[in-house]
Amino acid sequence: MSNSKQGHLNGAYYGPPVPPTQSYHSVGSRSSCGPCCLLCTLFKFIISIVIIVGIIVLVIWLVFRPNEVKVYVGTASLTQFAFSSNSSNLQYNLSLDMSIRNPNKRISIYYDYVEARALYDGSRFAYDVLPTFYQGHKNTTMLYPAFQGTNLLLGDSVATTYNREKQEGYYYVDVKLYTRLRLKVWIFKIHYNKQKIDCSLKLPVPGSSAKFEGTKCDVDLF
Ligand SMILES: *[C@@H]1O[C@H](CO)[C@@H](O)[C@H](O)[C@H]1NC(C)=O
Ligand SMILES: *[C@@H]1O[C@H](CO)[C@@H](O)[C@H](O)[C@H]1NC(C)=O
Ligand SMILES: *[C@@H]1O[C@H](CO)[C@@H](O)[C@H](O)[C@H]1NC(C)=O
Repeated sequence: MSNSKQGHLNGAYYGPPVPPTQSYHSVGSRSSCGPCCLLCTLFKFIISIVIIVGIIVLVIWLVFRPNEVKVYVGTASLTQFAFSSNSSNLQYNLSLDMSIRNPNKRISIYYDYVEARALYDGSRFAYDVLPTFYQGHKNTTMLYPAFQGTNLLLGDSVATTYNREKQEGYYYVDVKLYTRLRLKVWIFKIHYNKQKIDCSLKLPVPGSSAKFEGTKCDVDLF
């Protein structure tokens, strides 16, 4: 469309539609092909290679594109959660049933290291190193992180947050999974170290009649 428009425009200004100066210039530079021209050709060649490799990578990515794993906390049992503001100690006992699903058809996942960390009011108070496992295509694995003990919990706002949430009936605890993965695609294994799984749990105060509601976790793996 734009071609025919340009031709028409050129025709309106002067008889021959092709502007002569431009073609003369390019012919002249081609005949005296110096180092500059060689560089130019090399540059074009490299650009073509980059584009071709880019297209191949894109196609491979579209074929094998990994979907995020799905992580879900089905049950959570908080039987103890006592913060003493004069010693800054937190006594806790929390256990979870957590499922991880690999929704991919062509990718299986080796979980070479899995650590669950529990945080309250932004500070970590416990961690649990979980067994390593292998997860095939379209498979679901159950994990059972458990945190039990007493730990110092320093932070200006902990006491305030704790007392407020105790009154409201729910403690908000974050459980994060830190993992080291290998993705297996066909015969290739790729190490994958960027990982983030974050579960924001709303836990009923121990002894209350409220029930924990299953919670979907935020996943940012790929
Ligand atoms: C900590 O506070 C409690 C009241 O909340 C008090 O009975 C207790 O004596 C305090 N402990 C210390 C070591 O100060
Ligand atoms: C922690 O809670 C679990 C139930 O979730 C219970 O079986 C276990 O005995 C508790 N541990 C302690 C030390 O209280
Ligand atoms: C999940 O993996 C286990 C062992 O790796 C296997 O026995 C089971 O059949 C798999 N389940 C599905 C749905 O593929």
